[in-house]
This record gives sequence, C-alpha cells and structure tokens, in this order.
Amino acid sequence: MYPLRRNRRLRTSESMRSLVRETIISPNDFIVPLFVVEGTGVREEIASMPNYYRLSLDLLKKEVKELWELGLKSVLLFVKVDDKLKDNSGKEALNANGLMQRAIKTVKDAVPNMVVMTDVALDPFSIYGHDGIISEGKIINDDTNAVLAEMALSHAKAGADVVAPSDMMDGRIFEIRTLLEDEGFCDTAIMSYSAKYASAFYGPFRDALDSAPVDVKDIPKDKKTYQMDYGNRDEAIKETLMDIDEGADIVMVKPGLCYLDIVRDIKEAVNVPVAVYQVSGEYAMIKAASERGWLDHNAVMMEQVNAIKRAGATMIASYFAKDVVKLL
Ligand code: PBG
Repeated sequence: MYPLRRNRRLRTSESMRSLVRETIISPNDFIVPLFVVEGTGVREEIASMPNYYRLSLDLLKKEVKELWELGLKSVLLFVKVDDKLKDNSGKEALNANGLMQRAIKTVKDAVPNMVVMTDVALDPFSIYGHDGIISEGKIINDDTNAVLAEMALSHAKAGADVVAPSDMMDGRIFEIRTLLEDEGFCDTAIMSYSAKYASAFYGPFRDALDSAPVDVKDIPKDKKTYQMDYGNRDEAIKETLMDIDEGADIVMVKPGLCYLDIVRDIKEAVNVPVAVYQVSGEYAMIKAASERGWLDHNAVMMEQVNAIKRAGATMIASYFAKDVVKLL
C-alpha cells in the first residue's frame, strides 16, 4: 500500500516550490504610508513604531527618491499638525499652503511618476482628535462631509493622484466625487477606506500624529459611532458596495491581519481594486516581539504580507513596504 497522491513531491526544493507558488509579492503591491512634519532636517522616530519616522519636507524628498529606486510607486501622505493650528472644523486642512499641500508638491517635484495618495480626514486637524465636526455632543456627519470634500479638492489642486478618505462618515464619497467633477478634477481617483473597523490596532498611528481622541463632554473617547463594529461581516459588504456606487475607484479593508475574512468577502463581492491597510499596531507587534527575540522579524513580516495578498488584496498599505522590497 502507498498514498495515491503525494503532495510533498511539489515541495522538494525551493525551485520546485517557487514554480508552484500561487502568491508572489512584488514592489507593485505596496503603498508606503509616510508621516510628514514641519521643519528642516527633522527625522523623528515614532516611539511605538521603531524604525519608522516623521519626516520634514527636505527628508521626505530624499525618502521618496529612495522608494522610487527600490521600485515602490505609491505613497500615502499623513501630516502631523501643530496644536496651534487645530480647531473643531479642520480649517487648516484647507490651507492651500498647508503642510499636506506642500508635501504633495514636494513628492511630485522629486518623483513625478510617484502615485501620490493623501489622507482625507479631520482627526489630525481636530482639537478633539475626531474624524468629524463636533456639536452638542455629536459628530455631525453632513457638515463634516462638506469639509472633507473641500479638503480632497485642495489635495487634488496641489497635485494628488488619489484622495483617500479615512473618516467613515456616510455619503462622503459622493460629496467628494461631485465636488472633484464640478471643479474639473475628473482624473483624481478616490480610494475609500470603506470597511474600516473601530480597532485598537491604530494606537501607534495616533501617537505618530498626536491625533488620539480626547475627553469631550458626551462624546465617547473612541470612534465607534462612525468606524465599524468588529463583530460585523455583512456590514463590510454593505459599506463597500455603497462607496463604489458613490464613486470610489479603490476600496479598502482596514486593519489587515485580523480582518482577512473580510478581505476575501470583499474581493468576491466587488470588481474594483481592493486595498488592505496593515496598520500601525500590526507593525508594532512584529517589532516588539522580534526585539525580544521571540519572533523572526523578516519571516513573520513576509508571512503576513503574503497572507494579506493571498486573502485578496490588490495592494497593501504597509509600514514594512521598504523592508519587504529589500528582501525580494
Ligand atoms: C484617521 C486614520 C487612522 C489611521 C489612518 N487614518 C486612525 C484612526 O482612525 O484613528 C490608522 C492607520 C494605522 O493605524 O496605521 N483618519
């Protein structure tokens, strides 16, 4: 007696394994998130994100050139805003000469073919650390949408290729698309954070941008009235299909690792590219465990990005992008 099928035959060597491998990682898979600050020569390490930095514009320029040399073709920009510039309605976000607008121009000047994506959300600009305007103990959806649309327009004017609303207000994709079309920016794409969960994995990111929600009367200190409940699966499909109807060109699932079932559901439900955000907490976990010698950093990093792509991601926003690409 012997086994009729021997699956191990196709695993006998790395050459054989590479021949039958179903998921291949390449630099084209990645979006590189970048944190931008004011100043010159500033390169501040983020405490809860070892080896990840906030960069001033001069160093941003150097960084994107290096990314381009490595074959990375898209960046997602976030700005850390001075407390003095924060208010309830994100006025500074609309400043044509604001940090984000200058960062967009800096990247485009340095590497014209780099796909520049921008975060469209109020939280880095909000005194409350929320993604919406607050009034009488509530996050006001429709007033927030109007600001988000203006913010997206301002990014488009500065040269952004893709605007990426990460706020989870209802109807914002329609508002943004309509304003962009009205103003002649028909080629500016929208990547919608469509299935974004209220996750505890965003902690290090909020350190990076100093954007954590603060105590406000009658407002919960979390984002559960707008980001999704992690018990829900069907709702992710509802959110995503609505965003596509409203004009999203790319949809996103966020976070990554704990939500790969959702990634697969969405991949099967839609016919637009699906982005996955491997978020700051996922990065921090790998860093912390490997610093202690408990996990093999590069091995788990590779396994995780492969898992995200295998689940159905067309592209992955990842703080590991550079590290991964250097290993390919
Ligand atoms: C906020 C925003 C967040 C992230 C991207 N955009 C945090 C939040 O929703 O509180 C998280 C990214 C990460 O954790 O890496 N609009």
